[in-house]
Amino acid sequence: MNGKTVHIKNYGCQMNKLDTALVSSALKKAGFGLVDSVKEADVVLINTCSVRRHAEQRVFSHLGHLKHIKKRRPEMIVGVIGCMAQRLGTELLKHEAVDIVCGPAQIPQITKLLTETLQQKKKSLAVTEKIRKTTEKQNQTLEKFESAYGIEDKQIPGQAFVRAMRGCNNFCTYCIVPFVRGPQVSRAPAAVIEQIKRLAGQGVKQVTLLGQRVNSYKYRSSEKTYCLADLFEKASDIEGVEWIRFVTSYPSEEFFDEILQAMADSPKVCNYLHMPAQSGSDRILRAMNRNYTAEEYLQLLAKARAIVPDIAIAGDFMVGFPGETEADFEATVELVKKAQYKNCFIFKYSPRPGTTADKRLADDVPLEVKKSRNIELLAVQEKISDRLSAEYLGKQVKVLVEGLSKKPHLNVAQNTDTPQLIGRTATDHIVVFNGPESLAGQFAKVKITKTSPLTLFGELI
Ligand code: SAH
Ligand code: SF4
Ligand code: F3S
Repeated sequence: MNGKTVHIKNYGCQMNKLDTALVSSALKKAGFGLVDSVKEADVVLINTCSVRRHAEQRVFSHLGHLKHIKKRRPEMIVGVIGCMAQRLGTELLKHEAVDIVCGPAQIPQITKLLTETLQQKKKSLAVTEKIRKTTEKQNQTLEKFESAYGIEDKQIPGQAFVRAMRGCNNFCTYCIVPFVRGPQVSRAPAAVIEQIKRLAGQGVKQVTLLGQRVNSYKYRSSEKTYCLADLFEKASDIEGVEWIRFVTSYPSEEFFDEILQAMADSPKVCNYLHMPAQSGSDRILRAMNRNYTAEEYLQLLAKARAIVPDIAIAGDFMVGFPGETEADFEATVELVKKAQYKNCFIFKYSPRPGTTADKRLADDVPLEVKKSRNIELLAVQEKISDRLSAEYLGKQVKVLVEGLSKKPHLNVAQNTDTPQLIGRTATDHIVVFNGPESLAGQFAKVKITKTSPLTLFGELI
């Protein structure tokens, strides 16, 4: 091979973005050319998410679109990778448009699958049969694939995701992730650090350590047990690495003080914590198999703020979990008010086949109620975000510039010949300002002149 071209479209979370980067890198190494559009592509790969039904529906509608294109170009190959591939397996392979189905734990095979399918024109399936019982050998294969490739995230210059942990063992009753990503495994610190060094050598300034429950990172070697704070310390020593982030955190006492203390002590560890609460009702939290109460959650936030006074905290919530009453929802509203998040992501419960909640509990909160609770909670959070953002007015902030702002913001200066750029502060605040495009991937200082709930606007200093 090869000269064949591949286009990859990504749905889903940071884990998927990282996998897309790994797959792109592997295919490039094998001689495939990466292209930006379906039109130019011999092979179209879709990296998919199963976390809510809506995420899967979007993929099916995209596949419908590809089916039409294939009528005109029957030689085009379509592959589905990611969490839906693992969840649906053969069912997806039956789809008229689909030639390849490859689960997240099988991506080391991607080059082989593409090459074979292109040569032999047959459908191929690679999913992990007993995903909850992955073997040491399977882990080693993944590890080898993961560490063999450079993984600079091309979409955002100067930034990269690095996996600290694979999988999840938490089994929150609503969640599909443990069934599609397999058991929780912490990667060896040496492998993680080696990778960060390589990325820093390629000009990466910010690394984001990933794990579904990344604060529980734990690696036992003969001499000591490593936690996330140990990774921070080692990564901080690497020349070129300026900012270190980590997502997502689970509300737990374990390692909490160490991680927050490292944040307070190290100028490189960003003062940002994404720690989903999911609900403010203890009854619902229990039904979700989240092992904390609303009170304990708030105590963790108080502790985080005591250790890192200027920390920004983000959360996730779910509305309409089975059995959620008006009183349960009010408890969630109360928690959001008390937590004072920088921002929060709010989702409507979506039953996922095979999960405990789906098997045991009826999805009994009507869609209309889910929608209105979602809107109400967003409105509560918006007021808080607006007030917290306003505190930045007149201040100078340091941002890592991501590139051109996708949508034009009318709020910033118009009478300038430079384009609108977007950057993020260490606290994960989005900042829009005018400046030269060449700043992408660089740090810049911006004076904030206007604020809104989710965006700060300013002038380059
Ligand atoms: N590992 C992370 C998040 C995983 S999924 C964590 O534990 O925090 C990201 C978010 O999607 C979750 O925080 C949750 O709010 C939401 N989510 C997960 N499963 C869902 C479902 N079945 N329906 C609706 N939202 C869901
Ligand atoms: Fe899903 Fe819970 Fe694991 Fe997060 S911690 S991925 S919500 S099971
Ligand atoms: Fe991520 Fe969706 Fe899979 S949230 S881990 S891509 S189910």
